[in-house]
Amino acid sequence: MMTLFRPLRAGDLQLDNRIVMAALTRARAGRTHIPNDLMAEYYSQRASAGLLITEATMIARDQCAFTGEGGLFDAACVAGWRKVTDAVHARGGRIIVQLWHGGRAAHSALNDGVQPVSSTDRAIRGGTIRTPEGPKPYEVPRRLQIEELPGIIEQFRAAAKRAKEAGFDGAQIHGAHGYLLDQFLRDSVNDRTDEYGGPLPNRARLLLEAVDAASEAFGPGRVSVRISPLVGINDIEDSNPEELVKYVATELNRRKVSFLELRHVDHRAPAEQALARSARQHFKGALFVNGAYDFETARLALENGSADAVVFGKPFVSNPDLVERFSSGTELNALDTSTLYTPGAEGYTDYPCLKPEREPQRA
Ligand SMILES: Cc1cc2nc3c(=O)[nH]c(=O)nc-3n(C[C@H](O)[C@H](O)[C@H](O)COP(=O)(O)O)c2cc1C
Repeated sequence: MMTLFRPLRAGDLQLDNRIVMAALTRARAGRTHIPNDLMAEYYSQRASAGLLITEATMIARDQCAFTGEGGLFDAACVAGWRKVTDAVHARGGRIIVQLWHGGRAAHSALNDGVQPVSSTDRAIRGGTIRTPEGPKPYEVPRRLQIEELPGIIEQFRAAAKRAKEAGFDGAQIHGAHGYLLDQFLRDSVNDRTDEYGGPLPNRARLLLEAVDAASEAFGPGRVSVRISPLVGINDIEDSNPEELVKYVATELNRRKVSFLELRHVDHRAPAEQALARSARQHFKGALFVNGAYDFETARLALENGSADAVVFGKPFVSNPDLVERFSSGTELNALDTSTLYTPGAEGYTDYPCLKPEREPQRA
C-alpha cells in the first residue's frame, strides 16, 4: 500500500493514514468563541484524515487575535467542542486541539480594551489587524513580567484539561507563526534579559513548560508541537534556525511527545529541507511536515523517509474528502479564498464531496 495510506502510531495517537489536516483558523465561532453545530459539521466532514488538528484555539478569553476563533477558556467552550469531537468520533476520525496564545498579535479592540502581552514591548511592524472598527495597526504589547509567566502556563494547563473533558484525542502546542510562544522562542522578538531571554534554553523555556503542562492532562504521548523557524508571519525571525530546531527537537525527544510538526514556508526550499533533516536527526518520534505539499511531493517525502506524515492546510479547506480524492486520483476542488474567514456555511461546509454522505470509517 502507498505509504500515505498506511497507519501510523505517533506516540499514543493511532492514525489510520498519514494525511493530516493542518490547524486552520476559519472564524466561524462568532463573538462568543463557543464552537457550534456548523463547526461540528465542518470538522466531521473531514474525519477521514489520519488526524484533524483544530484551528488555533484561545486558551484565555482576553487574547483574541481574529474574530470568531474557537476558545477553550470555560465550560461553555468545553460543551461546544464536545459536539465537534463527538461528531468526528462518530465518523471514525481523530481530532486534537491546537492550544494557542496570540501574544502581541492580539488587539485591545478585540478584547474589551485589554492590551496584548508579549515577551517584548515592541509592536508587530507593518500589516494591520481586522477589528470590528476596521483594520488597525498592531499595538504596543505589555512586556510580561517574569512573575506572570506561571499564570500563562496555568492557562495552558487548564485549557489542556478542558480539552480532555471536551473529548479531544490530544493537543498541539502552537509554537509557530510569531504568536506568544514563538515570541519567546525566536530572537528577533525576544529581547529579554531574564531566564526567559538570551540563550535558546531560556527562549524555549515557556514553550517547553506549556508542553509539560499539557502533558499533565493528556500524557506526553498525546501532546505535539508545531514550530515554523523560517516563517515570518507576525514580523519574526531567528538568527540561527538550525540551532533552534536542534534544541527544540532534542528537548521534545527527551519528553517523548507524540509528534513534532515542522511548518515550512515551502518544503522545497533547501534551507527548509536542512531543517527537516535536523529535526529528523534529533527527534526520534514521529515527524510531521507541512508547507505547500501536494499528493506527489507528500508521497516522496514519506517514501524517502524524510517525514512520517504530511500535514495539508489549504487542500483540506476545499476538499473535505481529500483522503478519498488522493486515493482515487480525483481532481481537487479549487479554493475560494474570499470565504476563508467569512461567517456561515458558504465556503466552509459546502465544498462538494465525491460521496455526499460518507460512511463511517470504523464501527
Ligand atoms: C485560512 C488559513 C488559516 C490558518 N490558520 C492557522 C492556525 O489557526 N494555526 C496554524 O498553526 N496555522 C494556520 N494556518 C497555516 C496552515 O496550517 C498551513 O501551515 C499553511 O496553510 C501551509 O500549508 P498548505 O501549503 O498545505 O496550505 C492557516 C492557513 C490558512 C490558509
